[in-house]
Amino acid sequence: MGAFLATRAAWRDERGIRRATTVRAGAVDLASNDYLGLARDPRVVRAGHTALDRYGAGARASRVVTGTTTAHEELEAEICSLTGASSALVFSSGFAANVGAITALGGPDLLLVLDAHVHASIHDAARLSKSVVSFVPHGDVDAVRSALAGRTEGRALVVVESVYSVLGDVADLAALAAVCADHDATLLVDEAHGIGVLGAGRGGVHAAGLAGADHVLVTATMSKALGAQGGAVLGPSALREHLVNTARTFIFDTGLTPAAAASASQACRIIAADSALVGRLHANADVIAQECGIARAAGPVQSIPCPSAEVARVAADRAGERGVLVGCFRPPSVPDGISRVRLTACAGLGLDEVRAAAEIVRAEFAAACAAEGTDSAPSARSGGAAPSLGSDPTATPTESRQRAPGARR
Ligand SMILES: Cc1ncc(COP(=O)(O)O)c(C=O)c1O
Repeated sequence: MGAFLATRAAWRDERGIRRATTVRAGAVDLASNDYLGLARDPRVVRAGHTALDRYGAGARASRVVTGTTTAHEELEAEICSLTGASSALVFSSGFAANVGAITALGGPDLLLVLDAHVHASIHDAARLSKSVVSFVPHGDVDAVRSALAGRTEGRALVVVESVYSVLGDVADLAALAAVCADHDATLLVDEAHGIGVLGAGRGGVHAAGLAGADHVLVTATMSKALGAQGGAVLGPSALREHLVNTARTFIFDTGLTPAAAASASQACRIIAADSALVGRLHANADVIAQECGIARAAGPVQSIPCPSAEVARVAADRAGERGVLVGCFRPPSVPDGISRVRLTACAGLGLDEVRAAAEIVRAEFAAACAAEGTDSAPSARSGGAAPSLGSDPTATPTESRQRAPGARR
């Protein structure tokens, strides 16, 4: 085992992609997913405190045993009220929601059509689901149509994100839903980065007029714009019933801690009541894109494509030393293999603060490029078609029944 771990560590070092967990605090945070600044909002924190006192520190059991509390039921009602979904089932994380939903719906008679940029949890779910998997190039509605038209499986599920977490771009949900309807397929939209961001905070599915549509399902996370923790699957009540009985990450998992559920409920209420909050997020995203000289992505994530993983790392580290925390995305986390400095807008920061911070990041990016002898003009946003887990053998999809990206049968 020691030799294996050493070889893998050396492999990562050679490519400049070693990750670490460090406490990073006390600076302007343009790296978190707390897009609306709700994680530290006193109302959200207080709701968690109250639930801690009432229910204790944990759910204490699976939700199908004694782990369901009124805090979970309230969150299911609040998330439905915010997004317009007809029913919801709360999981312990967004990762568990994706894996639970896709494996519970999967099987050899299901064609799973995945956008090339979907999240790692969806890749893992696809592998576990025993379905036939087809990757399509990122954002390519025609490729989805072709994959569905050529299918021989009885059922089909198309999985996309409303806002993609690395490039920050959005899916054309109206077109995808229409294609799915034409081909008797279901659309599953991961709204991890859409709820609290699109459609006045109600999400991309709501904004596209698809809330409550029978053939459109949603997965959500409470850990980003809602500032808490937990995940959910939204859809018709028959889906909820199916998941309660078959989703292994729901049944064989301790319920979400009630304090997180209560905080997330409060966050839903705040978003629904305060229309200016989401506007502040977008104003900050405008400033970041302007200062960094990059095209404005529709979501909160604005990323600077880098000529190498090393440039991304150095720029992010130096910005951190100057008090600005940014993300550094390198393979295998980048769907197209292009490393990026990733800045996320947060409604909780002032415009001047964001402008000054973005200027620092831009300057450190230019300095890192100069040190490497490469051009510092941010290159065009890229939307490659490769499956998104890069070349790390520990992360590459290995589903034996998987079709090539966009391939027809
Ligand atoms: C698109 C997407 N889906 C799902 C998840 C998982 O959510 P959670 O952090 O709640 O497990 C993430 C988190 O990074 C994500 O970006």
